[in-house]
Amino acid sequence: MPEVTRLLADIADVGRDAVRGGWSRPVLSTAELDLRAWFVGEAERRGLDVETDRNGILWAWWNPAGLPLRDAVVTGSHLDSVPGGGEFDGPLGVASALAAVDLLQQRGSSLARPLAVAVFPEEEGSRFGVACLGSRLLTGAIDPDRARGLRDPEGVTLAEAAAAQGFDPSSFGRDDEALARIGCFLELHVEQGRGLVDLGQPVAIGSSILGHGRWRLTFAGQGNHAGTTLMDDRRDPMVAAARAVVAVRDAARARPDARATVGRLRPVPGGTNVIASRVELWLDARHPDDAVTTALVAEIEQLARQIAAEEGCTASLVEESFSVTTVFDEGLRGRIEAVLPNAPLLGTGAGHDAGVLGTVVPTAMLFVRSPDGISHSPEESVEDADAEAGAVALADALESLLT
Ligand code: GLV
Ligand code: MN
Ligand code: MN
Ligand code: MN
Repeated sequence: MPEVTRLLADIADVGRDAVRGGWSRPVLSTAELDLRAWFVGEAERRGLDVETDRNGILWAWWNPAGLPLRDAVVTGSHLDSVPGGGEFDGPLGVASALAAVDLLQQRGSSLARPLAVAVFPEEEGSRFGVACLGSRLLTGAIDPDRARGLRDPEGVTLAEAAAAQGFDPSSFGRDDEALARIGCFLELHVEQGRGLVDLGQPVAIGSSILGHGRWRLTFAGQGNHAGTTLMDDRRDPMVAAARAVVAVRDAARARPDARATVGRLRPVPGGTNVIASRVELWLDARHPDDAVTTALVAEIEQLARQIAAEEGCTASLVEESFSVTTVFDEGLRGRIEAVLPNAPLLGTGAGHDAGVLGTVVPTAMLFVRSPDGISHSPEESVEDADAEAGAVALADALESLLT
């Protein structure tokens, strides 16, 4: 069995979700902690020195010449998942990094710079709401006080969840010592779209990430009894929310290249025979032009207020996170293009830690073909041969940067 496939097979049972299907590996869950332990074991088996930084990011160092830890070439990805997600979103980049280390060790490559494989926690933001939380903390893109107070759906704060697992949340925040070690970052990821399928290629070099953000939209009405409240007497925030979901879809459709999604909605208190008193819904909006995203969200807010008024409710919108459109470093990209001359350039609509790190260090990405373009779904897949081609491409790119 090829190496990336074998590594992923070793963790295929971790965090399987019998209810949703696929895998649920929220940050600081047993599943995610088991994956982190697996990573530490695999890294140490390869002779790498593993450390955990102030923000819970794992760094596995390969530095056989004992060079000073600066200007390092860093690769890696994440091991947490969305609820009921696929097998490859995140772990493919981590397994490919380990397989690339194997290839470089087999080739006897001598390193002129240290190499690190990094694992970033809470990339998906599926537990505490803010995506790329580890890399945002590392780079100072989120206030550590705000991060510590983020709550999961059960009301547990990040600080509480981290402390319960032996992390020290008081140390969270921009880590200049860790940042000073990074010369460049190269993340391999499953493509999650149909770009490579359409091009008939297994591997692409990333060019850009769409700007994207998350907003919480709350409709408040009058909680009441489903049997005794006449239809004309209701102030039902669920009806307002349902109309808003359609308005979100239509507003995005009216702007070329925009994407807007409501993938999560929470009625309070949430009972079959209860008219909700409040409904929260989470909006994900994306566009290559950040000004268009801002205008789109402003329009959605205005539509939500109008719908709420028509339903006897109120609406309010709060931004939870925003990431500007990222264009990857041209110099780094050029060096990777030189060793992967057949790989096409592709942008992506998915967010990645590479987008956050790209604000502070030269950053690039490699994408591996998704045979049907499906991701954030149990049906996400990658062909074995493409996974191996990705690892070889990553090893070639790393080797050219390291030697
Ligand atoms: C993460 O995968 C995102 O794009 O939201
Ligand atoms: Mn994802
Ligand atoms: Mn991912
Ligand atoms: Mn992502």
